Amino acid sequence: MPRVPASFATARLTARKPRVDDGPAIFSAYASDPEVTRYLSWRAYERVEPLNAFVRECVAHWEKGDGHLAWLLCLKGTDTPIGSIGMNLEGGGKALFGYVLGKKFWGHGFAAEALTYLVDWALAEPTLFRAWAFCDVENPASVRVMEKAGMVREGVLRRWHPCPSFGPEPRDCVVCAKVK
Ligand SMILES: CC(C)(COP(=O)(O)OP(=O)(O)OC[C@H]1O[C@@H](n2cnc3c(N)ncnc32)[C@H](O)[C@@H]1OP(=O)(O)O)[C@@H](O)C(=O)NCCC(=O)NCCS
Repeated sequence: MPRVPASFATARLTARKPRVDDGPAIFSAYASDPEVTRYLSWRAYERVEPLNAFVRECVAHWEKGDGHLAWLLCLKGTDTPIGSIGMNLEGGGKALFGYVLGKKFWGHGFAAEALTYLVDWALAEPTLFRAWAFCDVENPASVRVMEKAGMVREGVLRRWHPCPSFGPEPRDCVVCAKVK
């Protein structure tokens, strides 16, 4: 397993491990907003308690070192999350990414800034060869984030992943990757 950084900094952001008491801040920053979660694999939270349980799972993944890792993104100089970026080390030299920001923070290039850091980190690791992500075909802003992080659009994975906002059926997704 590569030695994953518990925190990192970019020009405008710091990324840190979640703590068990982060639920309420995550709830108000992005996780309760259905517009934010429209193309995600989870629905917006209506109550903070189930989110607290999810945050505890995220903390446990870090403790176990099982390769399911999420960082909270904060504006430099603050400790309050504005979004999150996740990385799954899937075996076979692959790192899969996902990201989300509160709506107030869209349009400033923050997601691309964090993703660029982690893609570059991953491909500098001797055992990782493919940094990849996918998003719903109707989410062009996310495709652009992947491209700005140096990934190349590889195609469409048909019927790949459901977005609960649209119903239970898997939907077509754009897949992008950077490899070495
Ligand atoms: C997708 C998301 C992470 C983008 O983050 P962001 O930091 O706002 O991204 P950026 O500021 O880099 O802007 C996105 C890019 O997409 C472009 N874009 C935005 N909306 C677009 C649209 N409808 N069509 C085409 N391009 C679009 C922007 O012009 C920008 O590109 P540019 O820098 O070349 O001008 C953010 O909107 C978000 O959190 N959405 C909800 C969660 C989500 O969908 N996550 C992705 C799941 S795979």
